[in-house]
Amino acid sequence: RVVAVIMVGGPTKGTRFRPLSLNVPKPLFPLAGQPMVHHPISACRRIPNLAQIYLIGFYEEREFALYVSSISNELRIPVRYLREDKPHGSAGGLYSFRDYIMEDSPSHIVLLNCDVCSSFPLPDMLEAHKKYGGMGTLLVNKVSAESANQFGELVADPDTNELLHYTEKPETFVSDLINCGVYIFTPNIFNAIEDVLKQKKDRANLRRVSSFEALQSATKALPADFVRLDQDILSPLAGKKELYTYQTLDFWEQIKTPGMSLRCSGLYLSQFRRTSPHLLASGDGKRTATIVGDVYIHPSAKVHPTSKIGPNVSISANARVGAGARLINCIILDDVEIMENAVVIHSIVGWKSSIGKWSRVQAIHLGEGDHNAKLGITILGEAVDVEDEVVVVNSIVLPNKTLNVSVQEEIIL
Ligand code: GDD
Repeated sequence: RVVAVIMVGGPTKGTRFRPLSLNVPKPLFPLAGQPMVHHPISACRRIPNLAQIYLIGFYEEREFALYVSSISNELRIPVRYLREDKPHGSAGGLYSFRDYIMEDSPSHIVLLNCDVCSSFPLPDMLEAHKKYGGMGTLLVNKVSAESANQFGELVADPDTNELLHYTEKPETFVSDLINCGVYIFTPNIFNAIEDVLKQKKDRANLRRVSSFEALQSATKALPADFVRLDQDILSPLAGKKELYTYQTLDFWEQIKTPGMSLRCSGLYLSQFRRTSPHLLASGDGKRTATIVGDVYIHPSAKVHPTSKIGPNVSISANARVGAGARLINCIILDDVEIMENAVVIHSIVGWKSSIGKWSRVQAIHLGEGDHNAKLGITILGEAVDVEDEVVVVNSIVLPNKTLNVSVQEEIIL
């Protein structure tokens, strides 16, 4: 049997995701019309003999209650949210719920970061892992040498795929092969974490007796029960025939910023084109809008037949799109109203916002593939009113603002 664990983190980690993380935990922010965490969860469903899916984080329980109960019913696999009282780090969080995870006596544990966008080739990875015979297998990916330092950089044996060397976000370049935050472990991972915990406690005790000054610096350091999977486990175990790599040739991205969420929404929409085309708007029939490329429209949204939508557009529940509106590369959240002849391009429009007639909300892309640049996108927080004929370009607008004049490259607090 296999148990899957998705690390969802907690509220303090989502600051780069503001203002979108102000009213929904980042793991529940919709990509291609589905909560971010829904995509790894549905990938887990393809694992043979999957017993349980756990989400581990330090958000309030009530924030996930509704989602986990509805997804459990939908997939007919038990999905549970386990809340840490405080952050224990990516390995420490896993370890603190080892009793729950081991309840089903799994032979393998699939561990996923929630903020990555991937096709999650889990069944193939599991097969490869069994052949390697190690304690763990990491999904890895080649990225550009300039961007590699945002990730764990690693070296693998080209013949055996063994992980030979691992450095988390190094200052000097090690390799363009990086850690995707997707793992398969045997239950021995808990022994490895336990060893690190013991070493940390011993070291802390040693410092305590050696001098008062050292004690002070020790208390400022990370707490003794905080264990990071990358620095504390992967780095020391590299080159010991315990860890192996499996390279994905399919899409993979990390979702740390709103700009990346828009890009990843598009990646998941194009995956739907291959795996579940019924989820995409078809645009045939006289009474539907003109659809270009991959578009998701929630069944409760009202989209005028003279509007033109796409590519890469997701429209959430109860949104209304007026006559003659044009939407390209954007995420429209619940209860948004877009009035006649308005244009939305390269933008995320927050819950309950409204965009007036003949208004434009857009970004101008400064460089190719520059989705991470803060202002390569326009973001309206919750309940922002853009009045008629107002133009908003490359700006971030915090919740509850009314814009009655045009703005460009501004952050409106
Ligand atoms: N439950 C819980 N508790 N989850 C946590 C905690 C914690 O204390 N700390 C982090 N997480 C979750 C985050 O929500 C995220 O899903 C995952 O664990 C990893 O987060 P970080 O430890 O902040 O690392 P990162 O995202 O900057 O980088 C990691 O992922 C990259 C791939 O996206 C590293 O493993 C990199 O090497 C890797 O390239």
